[in-house]
Order: sequence, then structure tokens, then C-alpha cells
Amino acid sequence: MPSPPPQSPPPQTAPGRPGRITLADFRAAARELLPAAAFDYLEGGAADERTVRWNAEAYERLALLPRVLAGLPGVDMRCTLYGTELSSPVLLAPTAAHGLFHPEAEAATVRGAAAAGALTTVSTFSTLTLEEIGAAATGPWWFQLYVQRDRALTEDLVHRARAAGARACVVTVDTPVTGLRERDLRNGFALPSHGAPVNLAGAAAGSGPDAAAPANPGIHDPRIDPAVGWSDLEWLRTVSGLPVLAKGIVRPDDARRAAEAGIGVWMSNHGGRNLDTAVAPLTTLPAVAEAVAGRVPVLIDGGVRRGTDVVKALALGADAVAIGRPYVWGLAADGAEGVRATLRALHRETELALTLLGAPNPASLTPDLVGPAWRSPQ
Ligand SMILES: Cc1cc2nc3c(=O)[nH]c(=O)nc-3n(C[C@H](O)[C@H](O)[C@H](O)COP(=O)(O)O)c2cc1C
Repeated sequence: MPSPPPQSPPPQTAPGRPGRITLADFRAAARELLPAAAFDYLEGGAADERTVRWNAEAYERLALLPRVLAGLPGVDMRCTLYGTELSSPVLLAPTAAHGLFHPEAEAATVRGAAAAGALTTVSTFSTLTLEEIGAAATGPWWFQLYVQRDRALTEDLVHRARAAGARACVVTVDTPVTGLRERDLRNGFALPSHGAPVNLAGAAAGSGPDAAAPANPGIHDPRIDPAVGWSDLEWLRTVSGLPVLAKGIVRPDDARRAAEAGIGVWMSNHGGRNLDTAVAPLTTLPAVAEAVAGRVPVLIDGGVRRGTDVVKALALGADAVAIGRPYVWGLAADGAEGVRATLRALHRETELALTLLGAPNPASLTPDLVGPAWRSPQ
């Protein structure tokens, strides 16, 4: 008697939604579900979107050099940041206005991240209040701050965030004004009421040249202070009582200055949304890591779409990696479950990459595991 044919293994799909395996699958779903102008707001960058492309290409230009016969019994993906243990070194970068993408807005985001053991960074421009988000959060979160012209309002935001459960304050330092978002200009896009920044409700609009005539009238918030300096970060450390990170650093000299002041370094060019042709952070990561010399954590975001991207950033000196657009694709596609599923997909891919590289944990990734690709992407 012939033996029965072997059962084919079940397809590797993200649980709940057959066919969505990769972050790109969630992007396709979000594109289908979202109104075109909201998808453009999410996807777009500044001007010609060269930096958006460079962020991704920086990862494509690198190859991995796996170490064989490493004799690994398994891989431990855990990572600790400022005393908080996370399931992996991948966290959520702050993105504004989650109400645009799902009715449960940031509540779904923090729940989905917690289900994946990940940390959320909540934007100043969230569409739920910090208190509502804190109440919904079952996992760790940080607060992203745009320093307001009104310093009393700024201090109040930080105090509210801390009282609601935020464990660190991430100060965005690359956005004195909003970049030239030409997709939004063409679409005549302005944040609708379900994307309004409720944490700033009642705050007076700012003044100054960019307040009167911002490049992007629909999305630029004139209450953001364009004149933030290093002394503001010191001040925030004092008034917040929280660890402070500066998000938007790409230069080694800025990174050194931050590290000397005990400010965490979050490398970013805002996902290519501000200064077009700004350098991809991955390009300057080795020099930044050298300048920081382990004094403070180094985080990086922009263009991370695969577990192999995560391991490249970690190997070149990052302590953790953040994603922006990809988890919003998950949020738009499937709410909290979509956020969880995008994080899990990246977690699985990263774990697999570590195993195939012969690396037992993220901390064991070293620059010799990365080299130039055979040829640049077409
Ligand atoms: C729709 C959207 C909104 C964003 N809002 C904020 C924000 O409120 N504050 C901030 O610091 N960065 C913001 N960012 C930038 C992200 O934190 C992050 O730097 C960027 O998305 C990383 O690139 P990636 O999208 O390629 O992963 C936003 C990005 C997107 C796509």
C-alpha cells in the first residue's frame, strides 16, 4: 500500500488574516482601506521624497556575512531600555493622528504593541488625550514632545504624560517647521476633526512668520517652537524627572553633545518627511555610535521594513530600532490586532535573521556581520 502523501505545512500567515505575512502586505491592505488623501499623508515625504527612498536603500546597499557553526541553542531577542524589558529591540516611533487610521486610534496602538511586548512612543499630536491613552495602555510607553512656544503648556504636557504613565520623554528636534509635503498640498489635505491634536485643545495658536504662512497650512501646527535649543533639553530633564531622548539626530557631533548631557540619541530624519535629501540615518550610524561610545542608548528609525534591516542597524551600533509607517499600516488594516501582527512579523523575521547569522542575541551583533552589497539596488 502506498503511504499517504505528507501533509503540507500550514502557510506562515499572520494570525487572524490569511495572506498578510510581511509589512508590505499590511501596506497593501492599508492602501485599499484608507481614503487616498489619508494614505498619502501617511506615506508621503518632503519634496521629491528622495530621503524617503534613501532610508530604505541604505539597508538594501548592505549585505550580511553570516557566521556558521555557531552552535546556538536558540536566540534571545529581549532588550532593556531605561530599565524596561521589551520582547525585542523594535519599538513604535511616534506618529500623529491615529484617529485618521482607525476609530480606536491610539488606544488600539498601545494595546496592539503591549500584546507584542513592545513599547509605544505616543505623539504630542495624538487624537486621544494622554490620560485616555494611559488608561488604555497595558504595556510601556514613552511620550514624544514637540516643544511648544508656550513653555508652561510644554511643562504641563510633560507632567500629564508622566502622570498618565509615560516612562521617558522623546523630544523631537528635527521639526522647527514642517517639511514641504507636496502630496498633502496637492490633495489640499488638512487634519480633519477625528485627527485633531486634543492634547493641545484650548492652547493659543502661535505667532511668527511660519505661523502666519506655513509651508503646509493643513498640517503644520504653529504652536511648535521653531527656536528650541540644547538648554531646553536640560530644562526638560529637570522638569520632567524622566529620561530624555532627542529624536532627529543624524550627525556624530550632535550625538556626542547629547551623550555628554546624558540625553538619549534617537537617530531619524523624520521618515524623510522634513528635509528632503537629508542623509539616511543608517549611513551615519557607525560614526554616531562611535561618538556616543555607549554613554546613552542609540535608537534609529527610517525605512526599516524587514528583520534583516533590524539586524543591520543593531550590528552597526544601534541599541534599538523604531518603525513608523509600518505599524500604522497594521493599525489601518486591523486595529490593535494589526499593530500586534506587524510587530510580530518583524519579530519573527529578526529572530530568524539572528539565528541564520549565528548571533545568540541582539547585543552580540557586531559590525563585521555587515558589508557592502554586491551591487547597488536598481
Ligand atoms: C504619518 C506620520 C506621522 C508622524 N508623526 C510624528 C510625530 O508626531 N512626531 C514625531 O516625532 N515624528 C513623527 N513621525 C516620524 C516618525 O516618528 C518616524 O521618524 C518615521 O516614521 C520613521 O520612518 P518610517 O516611517 O520609514 O519607519 C511621523 C511619521 C509619519 C509617517
